Formats: sequence, C-alpha cells, structure tokens
Amino acid sequence: MEFSTKFINKLKYAKKLLFFTGAGISAESGISTFRGVDGIWNKMKPEELASIDGFMKNPDIVWQWYQHRRQIVHDSKPNAGHLSIAELENYYDVTVVTENVDNLHRRAGSSKIFELHGNIERNYCIDCKAPFNDTKLNEESGNPKCKECGGRIRPDVVWFGEMLPQDQFSGGQSSAESSDICFVVGTSGLVYPAAYIPIEAKQAGAFIVEINIDYTEMSRFADESFIGKSASILTELLAEVKRIKATT
Ligand code: OAD
Repeated sequence: MEFSTKFINKLKYAKKLLFFTGAGISAESGISTFRGVDGIWNKMKPEELASIDGFMKNPDIVWQWYQHRRQIVHDSKPNAGHLSIAELENYYDVTVVTENVDNLHRRAGSSKIFELHGNIERNYCIDCKAPFNDTKLNEESGNPKCKECGGRIRPDVVWFGEMLPQDQFSGGQSSAESSDICFVVGTSGLVYPAAYIPIEAKQAGAFIVEINIDYTEMSRFADESFIGKSASILTELLAEVKRIKATT
C-alpha cells in the first residue's frame, strides 16, 4: 500500500495514537462480526440474547450462548492487526478504545485499553455484583449462581439498553481529546455512544484514518480511508512507522 505524503508527515510528528476498534479487527482471528452477511445479528435475535429481559426469561440459553462465544474467543488468537497495534507502543503513546469484548488486544500485549462494551471473559452477580470467574468452558451447563448471595451470574458485557461502563467511556473520551491520529478500525460506526469517540477525536483536531474492508458511516469523518483487511493494512502501517523512525 502506498501511503500519502500527508499521512506520512502526520506519522512523523504524531505522539499520541488512538485506535478505535470494532468486530472487523477480530474477523481475521475467526470471530464473527455483528452485521453484514455472516453477522451474528443476522442469525440471532439481539433482544433475546443480549438484553437483561432476554436473560431473565431464558437464563440457561443466554448463558450457554455466551459460553459458546467464550469458547470461540478462547480458541482464537490475536492476529497481525492486534499485534501491530501493540508493537506501535515502541514508537508512540498508544491507546486502544474497543467495542470488542474478546480480550484480544490485551492478549496481543496492548497496555492501555478501554473496553466500552465489557469483556466476555469476566462475569458478575446481578444481585451483589461480586465478580464470578470460576466458569468452566462447558457449553452444556446451565446458568450458575453466585457463591456469596445465590444471585444469577451474567457475563460482564454491555447489553442493549444498558449504560456503558462510565470509567471506560470517559477514559476513551480523554484519549480521543488528546490524540494526534485516530484510527477507526473494523467498525460499522453505527452503535452509540461508542461511535462518539472518533467524532470527539475529530472535533478536538485529530487526523482520522479509517481502516475497513468497506466504506462506513464513519467514512465521512475520515481524512484518509484505507480499504482492505485490517491485519495486512496494520502490518504495513507498522512497517512504514519503522522506516520513518529509522530515518528521523
Ligand atoms: P459490525 O459487525 O457492525 O461491523 C464490523 C465492521 O468490520 C464492518 O464495517 C465491516 O466492513 C468491517 N470488517 C469486517 N471484516 C474486516 C476486516 N478483516 N478488516 C477490516 N474491517 C473489517 O461490528 P461493530 O461495529 O464492532 O455491541 O459493532 C458495534 C457493536 O454492535 C458491537 O460492539 C456490539 C454490536 O451490537 C454490543 O454488544 C453492545
């Protein structure tokens, strides 16, 4: 990929990079996205599987579905996209703000991560909020109960109609406000308030770069759009940064 002179200059002088990531960055790790032809929400009903009402109606089914997704995440690995972002910490102050719950940025080695929609590898009690991390990856077993109070255990992910974790969102906002370049990677940009993050970065003066296999709702905010798979584009980005840093 041929990067523009304008973008290369931005890379030369930037100090803080923000990566706002969505399901597309993990697609090449084998984790399904939500929308599009093979998207999860084309096959499953979000109101039944990703809402507190759906959970209270069918706790075992919802639990088993999350156990199944947890197994997929457990069996997958960070791809070259996640790994390139982690390695960019050798050259910049890098923050990751992700809509993903798959923990792959952490496993790739990124150190500053804000998880706007939670983390599928954690659980907590709906009554006393105690964390519950003693879950075997057994897709057949039903919804466990809290050892402290007997309440139902739910995954620590944000369901429809729920607030985002305030500390994660405000941490993401502060990073957006101070970033020099904001990369918007593998997200349809349709889900708010998460999608405010790159918009706030733009308003604060950041250069916006979209990386996606297609144009999206976010494209109109982008100063540059790189169309292609994120693993290869981020690999090329890292190589370009290494070239720049070797000569400056
Ligand atoms: P979507 O499924 O809405 O969008 C995935 C995006 O990734 C699309 O724009 C694809 O074009 C792009 N894409 C797919 N493969 C790619 C690849 N290899 N390289 C680059 N881009 C690729 O997923 P999100 O935008 O993450 O929320 O969805 C946002 C939220 O909607 C999720 O966090 C989830 C869902 O409902 C909650 O669960 C709260």
